[in-house]
Amino acid sequence: MGRRAGLGKGPRPQTGYQAMPDDMIPDAPVGLAASAPPRPLSGTVRIPGDKSISHRSLMFGAHAVGRTEIDGLLEGEDVLATAAAMRALGAGVERVGDRRWRVDGVGVGGLAEPGDMIDLGNSGTAARLLLGILATHDLTVFVTGDGSLRTRPMNRVIDPLSRFGARFVSREGGRFPVAVTGAREPVPQTYRLPVPSAQVKSAVLLAGLNTPGETSVIEPEITRDHTERMLGHFGATVRVAPYEGGGKIITVVGQPELVAAPISVPGDPSSAAFPLIAALLVPGSEVTLTGVGINPSRTGLLECLFEMGADITRLNQRVEGGEPVADLRIRAGRLKGADIPPGRAPSMIDEYPVLAMAAACAEGRTRMRGLAELRVKESDRLTGTAEGLAACGARVAIEGDDLIVEGTGNPPQGGATIQSRLDHRMAMAFLVLGLATKAPVAIDDARTIASSFPDFVPLMRTLGAEFRAVGH
Ligand code: S3P
Repeated sequence: MGRRAGLGKGPRPQTGYQAMPDDMIPDAPVGLAASAPPRPLSGTVRIPGDKSISHRSLMFGAHAVGRTEIDGLLEGEDVLATAAAMRALGAGVERVGDRRWRVDGVGVGGLAEPGDMIDLGNSGTAARLLLGILATHDLTVFVTGDGSLRTRPMNRVIDPLSRFGARFVSREGGRFPVAVTGAREPVPQTYRLPVPSAQVKSAVLLAGLNTPGETSVIEPEITRDHTERMLGHFGATVRVAPYEGGGKIITVVGQPELVAAPISVPGDPSSAAFPLIAALLVPGSEVTLTGVGINPSRTGLLECLFEMGADITRLNQRVEGGEPVADLRIRAGRLKGADIPPGRAPSMIDEYPVLAMAAACAEGRTRMRGLAELRVKESDRLTGTAEGLAACGARVAIEGDDLIVEGTGNPPQGGATIQSRLDHRMAMAFLVLGLATKAPVAIDDARTIASSFPDFVPLMRTLGAEFRAVGH
């Protein structure tokens, strides 16, 4: 990331995919400051591949028989960690061109024990889904991650995966590093999600893949459904039925033969959120983002922004690789505050920090309800968003699990340096705010952005964003 975004030297996660050794990266500042650009943002850009779908394409490709060709893979550090992990477990994983990857699968149940620890860097998705896979392979594997991942709760997957017969040794509270010994004779499960989490759902379904019989997950609140869609795409039998009160029950029939299938990865709506909100906030802007995924389990942010009065048009709606996509045309304009219901959280869980930046520039109060899950992301995003906005001069409060932002109709003052705390989305959210505030907003360390959006800085500059390197 240091090279690609013109930023600094520093420890990089061991993803197994490093084009340049650390000692060849020139010393450079790692902080970045955003300031109001002299002109409106304008232009058309393609949004990089969806992170959730990219992880799954590598993992499912590794379980298939035959060769899976992936187009549009997100080449961010999180996904590269998954690529390295699947390679360490015996699949053939190879980059064959720009965002084009090839996976030679080993078939369901065919993974082999790696000779060393697997390091998943910053990626919670890689961690939870991989534990699901390993839980029903008769292997022992040691898994760790970076300083952020090692603080994150894994009991939410360790508990259900233990019921299949897997054994785990972890640090206190189910924290990484974790050693997992998969079940030799796994027992299928029906599991009701205690938290609305697509990662937990996917971990259980992946464990069910190498388990005889049927494994079901009940989700009282709907979460992103890429796992179900992709399992079907690779030929697994997956049944999805409504569950009382608006939820779903998802059942996978175990030990299928998955057949390699091409994947075209749509643009990530969670990455699109940053240039999208920047275009809304910088006066006079008009920006088009192409190929953005609009899977209904991911479009909560768009719903909120429509309620806030945003001028966003969905153009060229189509289906690519089994996922709905559209081009989004965004025009800047005044926004008003909104009351965001808790039930919307799973469909926009990663978008709250940047939505809060929009709320700070809108007129009136925005209340975002039911954000408990934000506390266990790459950092505590509930506290971090509130503290960062307050440091920029916004009026903001946390009440229970709700975030309340009092907008004045004008951007807050800015002029603060925000700690990014190994959290890519917090770093990008505050850089977006800095494009609208009177005084610049800086982040102390921009390297974390490479987890999900390695080309964030050049892409935003293409649109006219003002970023300058600061500090060391
Ligand atoms: C993801 C699910 C979400 C999201 C994460 C990606 C996935 O996490 O925050 O960035 O790919 O399944 P939770 O399932 O913990 O909400």
